[in-house]
Amino acid sequence: MQTFDIVVFGATSFVGKIMVRYMMDTFPKHDKAPTWAIAGRSEAKLKALKDELGEHGQSLSTIVADAANEEQLNAMCEQAKVIVSTVGPYALYGEPLIKACVTSGTDYCDLTGEPQWIARMLKRYEKVAQISGSRIVHCCGFDSIPSDLGVWYTQKQANATFNETCQKIFMRVKAMKGAASGGTVASMMNLVKEATTDKDLRRMLANPYALCPQEHPFKARQENLKTARFDENTQSWIAPFIMAAINTRVVHRSNAMQGNAYGDDFIYDEAMMMGKGAGGGMRAGLLSTGLGGFMVAAALPPTRWLMEKTFLPKPGEGPSEKEQLEGFYDLRFFAQTASGNKIQCKVTGDRDPGYGSTGKMLAESAACLALDIDKNERKGGFWTPASAMAEPLLVRLEKYAGLSFSVVE
Ligand SMILES: NC(=O)c1ccc[n+]([C@@H]2O[C@H](COP(=O)([O-])OP(=O)(O)OC[C@H]3O[C@@H](n4cnc5c(N)ncnc54)[C@H](OP(=O)(O)O)[C@@H]3O)[C@@H](O)[C@H]2O)c1
Repeated sequence: MQTFDIVVFGATSFVGKIMVRYMMDTFPKHDKAPTWAIAGRSEAKLKALKDELGEHGQSLSTIVADAANEEQLNAMCEQAKVIVSTVGPYALYGEPLIKACVTSGTDYCDLTGEPQWIARMLKRYEKVAQISGSRIVHCCGFDSIPSDLGVWYTQKQANATFNETCQKIFMRVKAMKGAASGGTVASMMNLVKEATTDKDLRRMLANPYALCPQEHPFKARQENLKTARFDENTQSWIAPFIMAAINTRVVHRSNAMQGNAYGDDFIYDEAMMMGKGAGGGMRAGLLSTGLGGFMVAAALPPTRWLMEKTFLPKPGEGPSEKEQLEGFYDLRFFAQTASGNKIQCKVTGDRDPGYGSTGKMLAESAACLALDIDKNERKGGFWTPASAMAEPLLVRLEKYAGLSFSVVE
């Protein structure tokens, strides 16, 4: 019998602290409040976090575990129904915890956006998870919940309206305000570093179906937008969206994990909407050139070192409270069925996407996995947010976490 519904591993990270505050404020108002504890490698930092949280924080239980200490990780797993981890870069620190969870049958969710690491974990631990009953759900933050549930929701609306699924969905970021943290930058830099020296990894990253089960039937060519172009679907200039690299892979895995429910020839891509006319064209051009330049600089060791040492945020740093509060996002899903019926849906979130909103999404994902998703209904394995939790998670996100899903009239 586990002691806690949820254990937050990495509670003292930048995003972990945001999540813990949210859990403290919001969980008592839930219809059924999960029991939870905080965990991390440093007892002193966990105590400091409890002090920051004030009187209520004092009653929180703490668990000390290092990401590399198997014994401590196993002991932590014994105490939890779900471990939710913010200890990243996951490609550097995440594997021992996945191993401990799949071995003990403990459920797990996280914030990774690192496709190379997810692919490695699938290869090494999917079978063990299927046997032990452990449900692993990666990507429970801004990447990739709004995209994954946005597509699921759009398909549901299309089925209800036209009795047909959408064969094509194009997600366009209409508006977004936020900034990156040191942890996210470290994860990105590590991925670029791995990819520069590994040809197979570069090939894997270019495959839109890289996270799908091996026997998947998908063959449709998917667009991988690299430069600015005018988009007929949205009548707007578009530019590459950096999160598309993980979100599109998660959406295709969701399709596969739901028995190819979106169709064998389902097409999906993501981009930033930059507006019409010459102004839109110029903004799209500037953004894609800037992004390209950033990637080239990140791939070269001297410029990467310089960027890390100068303007990029360090681990533990991120957007201020004011920036988190003023942040938001508005994502549009332009969809079309095979017979030509069209529908547009939108997903919005309050707070900045990467932290204020991500902290809330991750907390609700953990609560949903612990309390709403029956072990007999969703068996052990590597799931996606949509294939594991869809409707109950969407309900939670709208009720508690500031997200909205709707059809655009
Ligand atoms: N998917 C999304 O939308 C999204 C959004 C935000 C962040 N993220 C990801 O979430 C992760 C965290 O981001 P962040 O900005 O919050 O990072 P951060 O502030 O740098 O925190 C990293 C955490 O890892 C812990 N850690 C490092 N080594 C450890 C070890 N050996 N044992 C135990 N704990 C260890 C650190 O512990 P201490 O506190 O003791 O130093 C810290 O709590 C990153 O991988 C980032 O890419 C994803």
